[in-house]
Amino acid sequence: MPHDTAIDRKQILVTSALPYANGDIHLGHLLEAVQTDIFVRFNKLRGHDVLYVCADDTHGTPVELSALRLGITPEELVEKARENHIRDYSGYNICFDIFYTTNSEENRYYAELIYENLRKNDLVIEKEINQYYCEHDKRFLPDRFIVGTCPRCKAEKQYGDVCETCGTTYEPTELVDPKCGICSCTPVMRASTHIYVELAKREEFLREFIERPGTLQSDMKNFVKTWIDEGLREWCISRDGPYFGFKIPGTENKYFYVWMDAPIGYLSSTDRWCKDNGANVLDYWKKGTSTEIVHFIGKDIVYFHALFWPVMLDTANFAVPSSIKIHGFLNIQGEKMSKSRGTFILAKEYLEKVNHPQAAEFLRFYYGSKLSLTTADLDLNKDELINRVNTTLANNIGNLYHRAMVFSERYFEGMIPAISWDKKIAALVEAAAPEIAQWYENCEFKLVVEKVQSLGSVGNKYFQDTKPWELIKSGDKEAAGAVVVTCINLIKALAVFLKPIVPQISGRVEKQFSTDFKWDDYRFSLSGCKINEVEKLVIPLESAHLDALFTTTDTEASSS
Ligand code: MSP
Ligand code: ZN
Repeated sequence: MPHDTAIDRKQILVTSALPYANGDIHLGHLLEAVQTDIFVRFNKLRGHDVLYVCADDTHGTPVELSALRLGITPEELVEKARENHIRDYSGYNICFDIFYTTNSEENRYYAELIYENLRKNDLVIEKEINQYYCEHDKRFLPDRFIVGTCPRCKAEKQYGDVCETCGTTYEPTELVDPKCGICSCTPVMRASTHIYVELAKREEFLREFIERPGTLQSDMKNFVKTWIDEGLREWCISRDGPYFGFKIPGTENKYFYVWMDAPIGYLSSTDRWCKDNGANVLDYWKKGTSTEIVHFIGKDIVYFHALFWPVMLDTANFAVPSSIKIHGFLNIQGEKMSKSRGTFILAKEYLEKVNHPQAAEFLRFYYGSKLSLTTADLDLNKDELINRVNTTLANNIGNLYHRAMVFSERYFEGMIPAISWDKKIAALVEAAAPEIAQWYENCEFKLVVEKVQSLGSVGNKYFQDTKPWELIKSGDKEAAGAVVVTCINLIKALAVFLKPIVPQISGRVEKQFSTDFKWDDYRFSLSGCKINEVEKLVIPLESAHLDALFTTTDTEASSS
């Protein structure tokens, strides 16, 4: 018999990108969180030692200005945001071991330590540059706080970094008729000295790093390679005060740029977890550790994770990521999420508006059934959501579950008879298990769902073809019992296979058998035992459940 149980126990540190404290969690964030969570839950199910770390990304000008506007301190703002974020993620059963903050003393410590190492290794230089300064607000203006006319297409009200009408990127100084984004005054030019990291000095290391097997998806590797080929530019890691962040040691009024201390949040949050749990952070992060470090991120933040972050880590003698898994963006009903079009769906809004007790599981399942390791965008579509949930969860697995359980209740007093199961079906499951495990490991979750769907169909067809209700009538209780035993063991296997994706639905099956599944429980093993009372596994999803959520796009679609 093929065995895939003899696995070596690994220590794995897994992260999702740190959401900005300045905004609410939306369904795009959740796509990433669900992808990461499935990977984490699978590896835990397999018996690996997995730590899932995330935090809020708290620093920068937007947080500082929002707090100013609200009349509270930035610290208060980020504390409140963190509570909200934790609540939103927990609504979808995202199983972080820690959800910390970058505004912590641990993070300050590691930011300073890494900075010191960058300096010691001669990677830091200072340069004087000219920047827009608002004399009214008494501050230098970051790109997003300068508004003006696009130098190319002349569209008005564009930010200082990119034109949202024609897509051109430019320097803020190229904007026509620039204004301060806070007070609308015309800013002046002012010189300031800034601190830069000379990435080019670590070019050789970076070239070697991205070539390591498994570090990056191959298309992404080529993409990053072109960045390196084009020449690595110096990276500015300082910002002038006022700024919500960490003061740079040895400067008067300079702060670490938010993107400098944000990824350090992975390390400092691990440290916090280790302190709280009697573990050693260096087991996870010391250069040469055997721990695998896996980052899940969106395609918009590859530059930071594949170039800046490894240099920061390696220079300070920390371990670099083993793998950076990059996903695409979530669209809604074929369109970019947009506040104005009403296609911007917050995590809490989805739960409020979808009038179904399994709403969160269904979103997890939908994402799982579409996710693979690619940067292609993924669409959330109402009809497809209904279709996928009902086809696989309700009509296939739910149906098999219901028929087999009810049959056992009716004719076998809720017992799984002590009769041997169908060898062919048991062998199909045995053969599928290592494949499914491999797909989980490779983040090809949609293939997992396809396989489960096809095994469920085999089970339903088997039940239909063997007609156990007729076997009972004709007095062949043993043959009918073999059908029950086979179908219930198959359901158990499918519940194990789906557990990382829909932990609550699998949880109902676990309750049925009074157990907590481990990966090996996919094996046919139940015979001659009692099952607990039958509950409905999945309540079908209907269009009406989703009406409140998709109203805006519906109206648009019908009027166009
Ligand atoms: N704070 C930074 C990340 C710092 S990591 C050291 C950031 N925050 S974010 O809130 O804008 O995005 C967090 C993650 O969510 C990123 O990986 C981003 O790609 C992802 N997504 C944001 N919008 C998304 C979609 N619409 N769809 C899928 N993922 C999206 O970037
Ligand atoms: Zn101003």
